[in-house]
Amino acid sequence: MVKASAPGKCILFGEHAVVYGQPAVACSINQRMVVELEEEKKFDSWRLDGAILNFSKHPHIDFLKDQLWPENVKPPLKIRIRGTVPAASGLGSSAALSVALVAALQQLRDEDIDAGIAGLLSHQAEAFAQGGRASPIDTATSASGGFVVLSDTVNETLDHIGERSLQYQDEITTWQLHSFIADIPDDTFLVIGNTGVHASTSKQVAKVASLLEKQPERHVEIEAIGSIARRGIEALRAGDMESVGKAMTENHIVLRSLGVSSPELEKLIKAAAPSSLGVKLTGSGGGGCMIALTKNPEQTVGAIEMEGGRAFISPFNSPGVRIETLSSQDSGPQ
Ligand code: PMV
Repeated sequence: MVKASAPGKCILFGEHAVVYGQPAVACSINQRMVVELEEEKKFDSWRLDGAILNFSKHPHIDFLKDQLWPENVKPPLKIRIRGTVPAASGLGSSAALSVALVAALQQLRDEDIDAGIAGLLSHQAEAFAQGGRASPIDTATSASGGFVVLSDTVNETLDHIGERSLQYQDEITTWQLHSFIADIPDDTFLVIGNTGVHASTSKQVAKVASLLEKQPERHVEIEAIGSIARRGIEALRAGDMESVGKAMTENHIVLRSLGVSSPELEKLIKAAAPSSLGVKLTGSGGGGCMIALTKNPEQTVGAIEMEGGRAFISPFNSPGVRIETLSSQDSGPQ
């Protein structure tokens, strides 16, 4: 049996605009997805959590199985998925699952675990599952952990870790990936508030695409998010948390005007704002989570919970994809 895990992520700047090549910044969170794989000779098909795996319901798994196991005959596998990243909530649960699955399959095949390959293949799997449009922000952050910056050109002042391209219809978008050490003072925390409302990333991405198609002049908002993100990166590097927070709130205002916020997100954002340096939705929106940068984390958590949200404080710099050691419980009778 093998076991791998990968963290969820939250986007500090640039969601949606990153799909069109604008810069974005994300950081790993301490919630993780865990994948266990075991060859099971007595089965004749792949099983997921005890049931026969329906690949049409799990396009990521279908895609990755064929990428990592190109031979026609694949041994029957038992897959077990667990994890604490809430699904469909803007925290990259499906990306974390794909990244952990790549690592587990590599381990099962006795191949070296490579965070770059895990990031690359899981990005392709996300794009496949999202109908063609997906930036590599979730998968790159989950694979490498810490802070990741995506941009359309190489930023010489950051650590360049790779390039990803994706063709959608006749358009090719290329992103440069960078890892990034943010200078976060010890008295500053990230609070994540979950509305509990599930929203589909692909629907939210399609909503923005249709708005831009009908009103091409709204591309200025995509560019505005790009310049806010650039300012946010500089402020993060400088450890200027007031400016980081201000840029986060500005980023949220533009996302709201693009139509990707929701009444539930607005309620939590309004509650968290007075005790925070900055507040915004994170991920694709329409529900899911908001984040607050705050020096008063307990107060911010309390304010979000008073409005019916579930809130937690997330430490920065959680590690990326990794192979987990098996405990005696894992190898015991099932
Ligand atoms: O909601 P999430 O965690 O899947 O984040 C999606 C981020 C988007 O920018 C909206 C889409 C993307 O592919 O980058």
